[in-house]
Amino acid sequence: QKGGYSHYMLKEIHEQPQVIQNTLINMPLTESFYKSPLLEQGRKTGILFLACGSSYHAALTGRYLVEEHLNIPVRLEVASEFNYMQHLPPCKLAVVLSQSGETADILRAMRRLKQAGCMIVAITNVAGSTAARLADHVIYTQAGPEIGVAATKSFIAQLVVLYALCFACASAASPRYQDYLSTMRLLPGAVQKILGSHQNIKDAAIEVAKAKSAFFIGRGINYPIALEGALKLKEISYIHAEGYAAGELKHGPFALLSPETPVLALVSRDQTYEAMLTGLREIKVRRAPLIVIGEDGDDQLEQLADRVIKIPPFNRLFSPILFSVVLQLLAFYAAYELGRDIDTPRNLAKSVTVE
Ligand code: F6R
Repeated sequence: QKGGYSHYMLKEIHEQPQVIQNTLINMPLTESFYKSPLLEQGRKTGILFLACGSSYHAALTGRYLVEEHLNIPVRLEVASEFNYMQHLPPCKLAVVLSQSGETADILRAMRRLKQAGCMIVAITNVAGSTAARLADHVIYTQAGPEIGVAATKSFIAQLVVLYALCFACASAASPRYQDYLSTMRLLPGAVQKILGSHQNIKDAAIEVAKAKSAFFIGRGINYPIALEGALKLKEISYIHAEGYAAGELKHGPFALLSPETPVLALVSRDQTYEAMLTGLREIKVRRAPLIVIGEDGDDQLEQLADRVIKIPPFNRLFSPILFSVVLQLLAFYAAYELGRDIDTPRNLAKSVTVE
């Protein structure tokens, strides 16, 4: 059943090239979808994104995408908090992300939104799930059943749906987004390259496994991936980890930096690059071990970091997807090094059906 892998999680990480392909093939990227009144509604009132846990991190990535490429304001809430807000936001279009489609906080939020006359699009992995039935429109991620408690392939599939949807909508105004959509078809190959040679990630994981606490940092669209990397590490290795917007580290957490506290930094050569490098120098001064996940061909990183993990050359718009795969492997091998129960970590359930 584990297809020759030691753990379901490892098998599911390795299934991701296929999952990306399946998800792209099955996306409803027809003109009638992205030129539909749905998008018009979003433009008028903004879009509300709701999710929990890893799905929240996917939703946060979606927010960066929609705001930057569609110029539509997005309001994003954790569903459990949303349910206690007195006043509903003005958005008349909500996008809920739930891999299982059964998360109690999400279902409660959906019922509340429906009552208020809000249109709901659900992005879920489970056909016939309660979220799929409650929604006005459903987009399925094609990850297949995920057995490992930690979300891996379902998270990547959520990212793929968000990118493809956003770029399909943006292509109505600018043809370059059609090119980006074509580029997405090459993503499975790039992910396969990471999966095919990851000794460096394993070595980094063994170092991280010695720590009691670690920080994950990123800027811009890599910030949600830093949050996800930290969540993955803590849930399966039980090492305390915090994800931070890189610029926030100096507003308090610097006090915790020491040679015992590794910092894992996601570095893209985009508009955030120079600020990232400045932040990394400040971290080095505080003698924290610095593991940088960056782009192939970026030679500056070696001078700054104790270890550099390079992702294969690819259009950097999609680096969140490639960084996510690196951080999944890193969490897996750190947990493996510590002999943790990786597929069924303590105190956790695959879907959280109580509020
Ligand atoms: C972490 C993880 C959880 C879920 C969260 C929401 O690896 O899997 O954080 O993402 O419980 O679950 P869904 O997406 O099913 O609503």
